[in-house]
Amino acid sequence: MQKREELYRGKAKTVYTTDDSNKLILHFRNDTSAFDGEKIEQLERKGEVNNKFNHFIMTKLEDAGIATQVESLVSDTESLVKKLDMIPVECVVRNVAAGSLVRRLGVEEGKELTPPLFEFFLKNDALHDPMVNDYHIISFGWATADQIEKMKALTFEVNSVLKRLFDDAGMILVDYKLEFGLDDAGNIVLGDEFTPDGCRLWDKATRKKMDKDRFRQGLGSVVETYIEVAERLGLKL
Ligand code: TMP
Ligand code: ASP
Repeated sequence: MQKREELYRGKAKTVYTTDDSNKLILHFRNDTSAFDGEKIEQLERKGEVNNKFNHFIMTKLEDAGIATQVESLVSDTESLVKKLDMIPVECVVRNVAAGSLVRRLGVEEGKELTPPLFEFFLKNDALHDPMVNDYHIISFGWATADQIEKMKALTFEVNSVLKRLFDDAGMILVDYKLEFGLDDAGNIVLGDEFTPDGCRLWDKATRKKMDKDRFRQGLGSVVETYIEVAERLGLKL
């Protein structure tokens, strides 16, 4: 597979076209961003760790019957993926209160959420990813009612698979963000990434933060902790 030209450069990944018009290459960079791009730093090895972590998790999800964009690893920092027409919303599931939920509603961090919450955010850094609901998504034509139901169902399916996976490895899956797109047949497929950059993971016993909150809150040992998460899951880096 030949890499062709840069199609899109995000805050932490670059997307390239390939000689196959249905396939793209995702390059996971060391750039680490928080607060909608306000804080950006290069963290050594993060691209490699996230690329391999993402491939590992997406493979687990595929094994559980969830369609994902990922095809194969092509280098330490790059993956071959199916081309998708991305839906510009972020699907967030929360099992435990943290982050913007705590700020928005004044609830206590760490409160277990039963049943888990689902929230949509519009992908728009300039507007700080505002929360939107089904009506905004339909009215502005970002997705149909049927596509919305599929994204919700798939995001909760991912929760059942990954909550158990992390729990078995001594971690709590606090919350996470997924993005979906449409393949050329119009199916909803999980795209983007699942890495410690886009979820919250706490150690079950000590509640140590093991995700990008280490970077957001300046707690240090960011990549080292991502590697610890991977190793607990049995992924050798
Ligand atoms: P939040 O608490 O900031 O709303 O984030 C909820 C979860 O979703 C958290 O694990 C971080 C993730 N997330 C992203 O990775 N990128 C985003 O743009 C947003 C809004 C959330
Ligand atoms: N949206 C991601 C975060 O919450 C990255 C960023 O904001 O720059 O940290």
